[in-house]
Amino acid sequence: MVVPSLSITSDFRKAFDLDPALIYLNSGTFSISPRMVLKAQIEYQKDFERNPTASLMEAWGRVWRIQKLLAEYFNTVPENLFLRPNVTAAMNDFISQIPLPRGTEIATTDLEYGAIVNICRARAEKDKFTLRTISVPASANHTDELVSHIVEQLNDRTALLMISHIMTGTGLILPLKELAAELRKRDIILAVDGAHGPGALPLDFNQLLDLDFYGGNLHKWFLGPKGTAFGWVNPRHHEALDPLYTGWTTYEPAPPAFRNFAPGSHFARKMLHSACQNFGPYFALEDSLRYWTEMGAASIYSELKRLQTQLESKIFAKTGWKSISPSDPALRGPLLTYVPPGLHVAEAGPLMENLRSQHGLQVAIPGIKGVPCLRLSPHIYNTDEELERAVTILASVFE
Ligand SMILES: Cc1ncc(COP(=O)(O)O)c(C=O)c1O
Repeated sequence: MVVPSLSITSDFRKAFDLDPALIYLNSGTFSISPRMVLKAQIEYQKDFERNPTASLMEAWGRVWRIQKLLAEYFNTVPENLFLRPNVTAAMNDFISQIPLPRGTEIATTDLEYGAIVNICRARAEKDKFTLRTISVPASANHTDELVSHIVEQLNDRTALLMISHIMTGTGLILPLKELAAELRKRDIILAVDGAHGPGALPLDFNQLLDLDFYGGNLHKWFLGPKGTAFGWVNPRHHEALDPLYTGWTTYEPAPPAFRNFAPGSHFARKMLHSACQNFGPYFALEDSLRYWTEMGAASIYSELKRLQTQLESKIFAKTGWKSISPSDPALRGPLLTYVPPGLHVAEAGPLMENLRSQHGLQVAIPGIKGVPCLRLSPHIYNTDEELERAVTILASVFE
């Protein structure tokens, strides 16, 4: 395959080491971290290895420092957070452990990510609860209608709703504040799968105090080290939530090695994974946060929007396709999704592989309500020229 040389048009791109033979349009699965974050991770790892025993003893204070920095960035307190390697783990902590009454119904939607639905299913099977799937229009376009459409499908037995902040398929943004207020009135726990939230839009937990739980990934839109995510738990659940994981800090008093982790917060300590492990990814979150501060979150969000708009208009010009992602900017996340003509479920996997291996184009082809869709997620490291080439490839493959 002949790969044209790239013209580096974006200042953002200079901060990344990319494979010049690949157009990476799948940041919705994993984004690529800036060079400074990768380098830091490697350095932390080397440093740790110089004396792993002493490094471990120091690690807990350092992990707490990271929790504090994250809390500051997302406008909350570090005592409300816990770190995990991915959002699947964080969602497990809350959904499988939060006390729920007998005979409860857990509700989820028909646009969720399968692994997280499975956590709800496992909880329902273990405690003989009902699991119900409510419908959400893939391309909803009105905030109020969307919230009432969801709330109307809940009932007196619904004790917990698990829903995504940004839907994995079409990028539909759920109006969390409004939804949480409605659920609080009905005493229904709202557990949010924020896999696509951090880095895709501003997140301020002080504005979301009606939420019960939010699990956020940092290795998707946030460009963070692979293996970084967090859970945010409303203080009203701190006492009742028993940790899924048991370790050195589960009970009080914690051994002296942990004195620098979360002094005074039993909740933060009981949620800590306290064992011999690799902290490199967590440590490098400090560098990710520095990257966001130096580049400016607002300029990153506006570049995400610009790239998405560019991509959408190039696709329309070349193919006439219309995206099924919401058109209302308030409800549209950074993903751009299409139902390409004539694509069958069985072809989705091979097509994705063919686009990567034969055309140097990485995309995702998820099923949305059983329909295979083309999901494109550009990030700040993509250039307009790459988008142009990607569209040419897609048009030729689907012609
Ligand atoms: C909506 C949603 N939830 C959860 C996940 C799981 O993320 P992870 O594998 O990092 O836990 C994904 C991954 O793509 C997702 O799209």
